[in-house]
Amino acid sequence: MSKLRISCRAPAKVIISGEHSVVYGYPALVAAVNIYSRVIVETVDEFGPHEICSEKYGIGKVIGNALSGPAVLKPLARIVSVFSESEPFKGRLKIRVSSEIPPASGMGSSASISVALAYALLKTVYDKPPEERVFKLAMEGEKVAHANPSGVDVAAALRGGLILFVKDRGFERLEAGKGIFLLADSGMERSTREMVSKVASLKEREPDLFNIVMTCMGDLTVRISRVLQNDLVEAGRLMTLNHLLLSLLGVSNSRLDSIVWSSIFSGAYGAKLTGAGGGGCVLALIDEKSIDRVEAALKNINAQPRVLKTVEEGVRLEESS
Ligand code: MEV
Repeated sequence: MSKLRISCRAPAKVIISGEHSVVYGYPALVAAVNIYSRVIVETVDEFGPHEICSEKYGIGKVIGNALSGPAVLKPLARIVSVFSESEPFKGRLKIRVSSEIPPASGMGSSASISVALAYALLKTVYDKPPEERVFKLAMEGEKVAHANPSGVDVAAALRGGLILFVKDRGFERLEAGKGIFLLADSGMERSTREMVSKVASLKEREPDLFNIVMTCMGDLTVRISRVLQNDLVEAGRLMTLNHLLLSLLGVSNSRLDSIVWSSIFSGAYGAKLTGAGGGGCVLALIDEKSIDRVEAALKNINAQPRVLKTVEEGVRLEESS
């Protein structure tokens, strides 16, 4: 086998509506955004453990299903071992991972890396890696990283753009609207796995409340997807309602609430936590007129704001030699 070097990047995502309810089969509205992770895969024509080198977490070695190295590399090790077992690949892999996406912030950092890695690995055996296979392989990593992933983060990193996603059913691509999304970081890291299991325990304890909230979230998501292109006032109002429902599920906190209300009081059309909650980021819908005021208000409470751009392209091959 000749030596290959493949470099891929995949975007981060923000959920505009439908986090958590998407795990239970309701739709989620998600946008791929202009912050990226990168993976470089090199094939080496020899035997020995595969090597994963993460800029942030250090080096791990993978033999069969076993990883020696930092536990946070387990999702990537899983992707590597499923790939080596299921695809006609012989040899050793050297993998380099780097990312601009803040981890544990609700921006789909793990899914973006998983998609870039799955695409780069499959590119060593397929001229055009089939989308279905990239999705399935990336999901192997996500299943290790999070308890019960819906696949929405993987779909956004894979396909890019603004999409309405339904678990196990697929997605519809939508036109991005004219509104501007401002992301404000609470500075609090959190675990998606913990937040997803918190919601699952609410389902056990309060099934009626749970079902009402889920139905309302599904309804809001579809309505936001219909108005985002032409009615920012209504889209913002519905996003804020979605935040209130997420609070009812128990995944907001006083820091996230104060970022949401500061955004709205300083001129945003609406705002909500984005991703699993418990920390991470708040997403505010604004326009050109309000940008300076909302940014100033957020800086004032130490929630670093960042203007996001929706990107039409998902995972991309940057180099193949
Ligand atoms: C995480 O980005 C979104 C959640 O809905 C989990 C999932 O969809 O897998 C909280």
